[in-house]
Amino acid sequence: MAYKILFQSDTEPYEGIIPLFEHRCDIKMWTQVEPDSSTDFDAIEGIFVYSHMKVDGALMARMPNLRVISNFGVGCDHIDLRAAKELGLPVGNTPGVLDTTTADMGFALMMAAARNLIIGEHFARGPDFNIYDPAILLGQMVTGATIGIIGLGRIGYQVAKRAAAFDMPILYHNRSQNDQAEDDFGARYVAIDELLSTSDFVMLTMPLTNETKGMIGTNELALMKPTAVLVNIARGGVLDHEALLQTLKERRIFCAALDVSEPEPLPRDHPLLEMDNLVIMPHLGSATKQTRDAMARMSVDNLFAGLESKEVPFRIV
Ligand code: DGY
Repeated sequence: MAYKILFQSDTEPYEGIIPLFEHRCDIKMWTQVEPDSSTDFDAIEGIFVYSHMKVDGALMARMPNLRVISNFGVGCDHIDLRAAKELGLPVGNTPGVLDTTTADMGFALMMAAARNLIIGEHFARGPDFNIYDPAILLGQMVTGATIGIIGLGRIGYQVAKRAAAFDMPILYHNRSQNDQAEDDFGARYVAIDELLSTSDFVMLTMPLTNETKGMIGTNELALMKPTAVLVNIARGGVLDHEALLQTLKERRIFCAALDVSEPEPLPRDHPLLEMDNLVIMPHLGSATKQTRDAMARMSVDNLFAGLESKEVPFRIV
């Protein structure tokens, strides 16, 4: 008998996913903010969360036969994990498979911001590039510069690995010390203020939690060097975007590079999008074909384990 699942997605799902469900599930698509009124909440046994719509406790409680929530991705800040725990519902996620991919994006953003890649690209295509000029678009040195990583978990470790290959002294701030990064790359644990005031590059890789929400605001940005670059590959919510806008307008740091924002996407008329000292991506940290395939397999395995009342192999709750 086919399992009945709610598939949450406000976009057309990645082609590699749907075939993994074929013949095994009756899929009820959920594309709005709320599942629509034709949803048979009593019948739903699993929720597959593909994009980032909120799954709160009230919704979980409406489904008496719900046995598992599986998230297509590692960050589960859009799911009420406390409510899931109280209801005894496992929540699966996809740790590990996207660490290197996301760290690559962090580095790509860092280099793009430091070396004026986006502005330079537009200039090179435009009418004003008619002579080689050694005086234009001078960036910041990456090799040998100090990087400060806030949140040195799996992705942060991969950022540190890349930084070590660029001869970068590595500072980090985290909930706990990361002995492996200290041993492998000489990473040094410091207080957040020291990290912000002495790093040339500040990379945000922490999860979004009650503790990290809005963690980087006016006071924190004010500590950064005028030549520094801020990179966010975590979640938009860890950074106060109004404070960032003010900082960029006053050119108090060199540049910011965001893979994520709050809200996401930013409204199309958001003033941040006007800033030439901002590089911004549409949340592409884990967006490679190989990583999406791995995320699909892992999240579908988690879902079926829960539906079959087996131990969910990768679970955050
Ligand atoms: C993740 O896995 O958290 C990515 O940001 C995609 O959601």
